Amino acid sequence: SSDKGKLPLKVLIAAPRGFCAGVDRAIEIVEKSIERFGAPVYVRHEIVHNRYVVEGLREKGAIFVEELDEVPDDAPVVFSAHGVPKSVPAEAERREMIYLDATCPLVSKVHRQAERQIEKGQHIIFIGHEGHPEVIGTMGQVPEGRMTLVETVADVAELTFSTEDSLSFLTQTTLSVDDTAEVIAALMERYPQIVAPRAEDICYATSNRQAAVKTIAAACDLLLVIGAPNSSNSLRLVEVSERLGTSSKLIQRASEIDPAWLDGVGTLGLTAGASAPEVLVREVVDKLAEWRDIDEEKVRTMDEKMVFKLPRELTE
Ligand code: F3S
Repeated sequence: SSDKGKLPLKVLIAAPRGFCAGVDRAIEIVEKSIERFGAPVYVRHEIVHNRYVVEGLREKGAIFVEELDEVPDDAPVVFSAHGVPKSVPAEAERREMIYLDATCPLVSKVHRQAERQIEKGQHIIFIGHEGHPEVIGTMGQVPEGRMTLVETVADVAELTFSTEDSLSFLTQTTLSVDDTAEVIAALMERYPQIVAPRAEDICYATSNRQAAVKTIAAACDLLLVIGAPNSSNSLRLVEVSERLGTSSKLIQRASEIDPAWLDGVGTLGLTAGASAPEVLVREVVDKLAEWRDIDEEKVRTMDEKMVFKLPRELTE
């Protein structure tokens, strides 16, 4: 398609990108809960960190709140994909509420490992980003004072444990694969006795999306990541690109693109975080086509076949 007057723009679209199995499942839990119980269904915290998704579910009858005390006793409530501290389902039980847990099974897996490590008498070093709901949820699986959060190699240097202490570590699921490897190396160097998780805690979707960005970044003059500013895995995609020397911008919608960004850009990379729906990718390509003559290419690094089952309450 040649569009006279428009400069050509090659667009490399990374794959895998966008929705992961945990996000698919979380959204379906809210939709199925509305079908089963009728609106409104309350959701504690944004079900996934994407405004478009949240607005869509709100239109279908979901009400989003930050805390359980904003939910009436007799209304069903869904907990977000990021997971919740143990105190939250405990409080829902006490109030005899109907609740559905949309915590991603890969986050729940980390929760169960944390419990096991505590049973073994280990103190847990948790690698994650302070304030993220997943971190609050995972730290809330164990008694106060049994888990210490570190974010960086510098944080590891400040730990005051000894090489005699019984220690283990776990990580948030949506971290940078490369940064985390550095933090783990620093931990193992300081504490050779530290027990590692059985398998990597960074989830398949996070590492696959980062690998896909690495595949295309060098060929791009600019890389756009569709995702929310509070979406951990989306922020990490921006970092991966920048680390490879390709400047990158995080956008929520096509309307945020400043056409000046495209000055001098011949090849543009495009990806989306795990909570960003594919319609937003199309929206961005359509927007770019208003300014440039687009030549689109999908670059698939690997296939994903992960699917998670819905909770029993919704399938029976
Ligand atoms: Fe789960 Fe990873 Fe998605 S932890 S919600 S599969 S980004």
